[in-house]
Amino acid sequence: MKVGLVQVFSCPEDAVRKLAAEVAELIRSRASQGFMTVLGLATGNTPLPFYRELIRLHREEGLSFETVATFNLDEYLGLDRDHPESYWTFMHRNLFDHLDVSPENIHLPSGRLRDEEIEAHCAAYERAIREAGGIDFQLLGIGRTGHIGFNEPGSSKSSRTRRIHLDPITREDAASSFGGLDHVPTHAITMGCGTILEARRIVLLAWGGHKAAIVKEAVEGTVNDQVSASFLQEHPNACFYLDRGAAEALD
Ligand code: GLP
Repeated sequence: MKVGLVQVFSCPEDAVRKLAAEVAELIRSRASQGFMTVLGLATGNTPLPFYRELIRLHREEGLSFETVATFNLDEYLGLDRDHPESYWTFMHRNLFDHLDVSPENIHLPSGRLRDEEIEAHCAAYERAIREAGGIDFQLLGIGRTGHIGFNEPGSSKSSRTRRIHLDPITREDAASSFGGLDHVPTHAITMGCGTILEARRIVLLAWGGHKAAIVKEAVEGTVNDQVSASFLQEHPNACFYLDRGAAEALD
């Protein structure tokens, strides 16, 4: 395993405190030089303690997000923004509503697209990331299929923002929050692996023993498109921040 690829913490709170301090320092030092900071953000339960810590830093330590632009990884297709399970709703409820980030600096793929609009929408999302100067810091979780964003098995290392068919395992994992499998969308728009890997710094978070097997494949397995998180092994500045449970299967 590459030196520095994995850091193991005794609990998620310790991991997110360290990570939020790194991101705060990045935002402050870029702001002092007159630059925006571009954050790539993720959804799911895993990032929630990290988002709580960013909110605490904003409230208690005066960390401003006025110089921050955000790009989320993905969005379910077929959901309006204000659907309770849309990632738009998730991100506003759990993070953006509690910070001073400008609405015009917040970007998520749209979940409401006609088939003929998808290609242009994805190209525009890629263009917006480029025009913002690229992603300075990318946050990731990992799905049971090994996906980052919604890059399901078979997603190539060079894939770009596009429509993806969700794996049955991914839909099963989302079923309880949607009130049943039948309500889970079948497709999503996701940044590609290539889009994600262009970020200058990447940290993947994983907590709990239920993530241990897929984390092991991503960290110690061969780099391959069946586990898109394994591509991080080849990134010059990517790291897995794990709690003890998520690290328990590693050699
Ligand atoms: C979804 C998201 C991923 C996330 C994964 C794991 O599939 N698109 O970005 O990493 O869920 O979710 P959780 O953090 O709840 O385990």
